[in-house]
Amino acid sequence: MPKTHSDIGLIGLAVMGQNLALNIADHGFQISVYNRTVEKTEKFVAENPSTPGGLVGAKTLEEFVQSIALPRKIVILVQAGKATDAVIDGLLPLLAPNDIIIDGGNALWTDTIRREKALKEKGFRFIGSGVSGGEEGARFGPSLMPGGDKAAFKELEPIWKAIAAKVDKKTGKPLMGAKPGKPVKGGVPCTVYIGENGAGHYVKMVHNGIEYGDMQMICEAYSLMQGLLGLKPAEMGDIFSAWNKGALDSFLVEITADILKQKDPVTKKPFVDVVLDTAGQKGTGKWTSVNALDMGVPAPTIAESVFARCISAIKEERVAASKVLKGPKIAKVSPSKKKALVEAIHDALYCSKICSYAQGFQLMRTAQGEYGWKLNFGQIAQIFRGGCIIRAAFLQKITEAYARNPKLANLLLDEYFNKTIQKAQANWRKVVSLAVENGISVPTFASALSYYDAYRSPRLPANLLQAQRDYFGAHTYERVDQPRGKFFHIDWPEANRPQAQV
Ligand code: 2AM
Repeated sequence: MPKTHSDIGLIGLAVMGQNLALNIADHGFQISVYNRTVEKTEKFVAENPSTPGGLVGAKTLEEFVQSIALPRKIVILVQAGKATDAVIDGLLPLLAPNDIIIDGGNALWTDTIRREKALKEKGFRFIGSGVSGGEEGARFGPSLMPGGDKAAFKELEPIWKAIAAKVDKKTGKPLMGAKPGKPVKGGVPCTVYIGENGAGHYVKMVHNGIEYGDMQMICEAYSLMQGLLGLKPAEMGDIFSAWNKGALDSFLVEITADILKQKDPVTKKPFVDVVLDTAGQKGTGKWTSVNALDMGVPAPTIAESVFARCISAIKEERVAASKVLKGPKIAKVSPSKKKALVEAIHDALYCSKICSYAQGFQLMRTAQGEYGWKLNFGQIAQIFRGGCIIRAAFLQKITEAYARNPKLANLLLDEYFNKTIQKAQANWRKVVSLAVENGISVPTFASALSYYDAYRSPRLPANLLQAQRDYFGAHTYERVDQPRGKFFHIDWPEANRPQAQV
């Protein structure tokens, strides 16, 4: 028997919305659904007649709102930006005080802060929840990063915990194997209240920035194996499969192995060889990098992964340039050195990954100060363990690092990561050197190494830089023999000054 009122409602029946609705219904919650184009709602409900919780299709927004139990919980899964605002504006006249709107899209966190404030003033509650894991995650267990009204999240929590991905309590390993109508039982849910207003969407954005980095680093490993060793895709697929059993065990390494072993159905060639080398992007990596620049937080590896997509996109220009700009001829590494080089590339990937995550967590740490959030970094790493695209065994090490020291200034300073880099850095340096010598572009490997070397430098050449600033702009400088915060300026020789234009 259907309930008179649904437990929750969802607006926006594109794939993510449909899958999240089915996931919610699989867990026994009755869910009302609405889509601007009514045919989509009708088709969706007709195709899914017998879910455990039940789907209730609504033709109008009024009918939809009326079908949900008070205080209403309404998930919005439409395009981020204007569409989200349009849907919220349409809902407002129909809502009752204390109703809860949950934005599950990839909203810019500052939009979430604005929306939460505006809705609070009108007597409604707002949650901005990151939803990660793509279509598959939404259907069978995403990683959910909710931020906003804490009391409202308490009311949403039973549903969010039910539908989130689950990981093993002890090992942190994702529990897989959910099927339609049969979700996995037990385990720790990959969702936790992140913080006030835009905190959930902020953390989701950084997650995506880290994801950009992870993907580009894997591509650089592939490019080096191909360039220096001439390995074929299937062979590299086997290497990635082997890596997936060790420290690099992760969803992205696993799918990379699958992709490299895949044949093109049309030509029967290795699939990667027929894919054009131009990468798209939707903007969350860019947002992460822009925010890093705005806050003055060094996140060069994440930014390089965005630029790597940008340079890939100018394909025609690169093809033209390749005929004009010459580099060194690649010196193939002898097959007897293959094993050692593959191991070195593995180490370079792992060290670069540690630096990229260190940067992502630095960003969250700084944003926390900027916005007054209280983020729990160990918990954040734990909810990244299952469901989402960056899920990886390695995240357990981050959770453990923050358990050892919740106030850790930088992941690199944790004993595990420090020791790991100590052991692997000779290989990392060798790989970056080989790439440079042979003219193979490795922007994330190289920038991560530069980040590491800069972060561990007690003295950088910025002394000279600041002297330059004092010379041409009287920007002043601090002295090594005086306390911080005391500024000096010297009179530079007139003769060397640029002449004033008359
Ligand atoms: P549609 O099927 O009517 O296009 C992803 O694009 C989802 O967001 C779709 O379900 C789409 O509805 C919905 N959507 C996009 N813009 C919208 C808007 N301005 N108002 C309501 N729904 C919108």
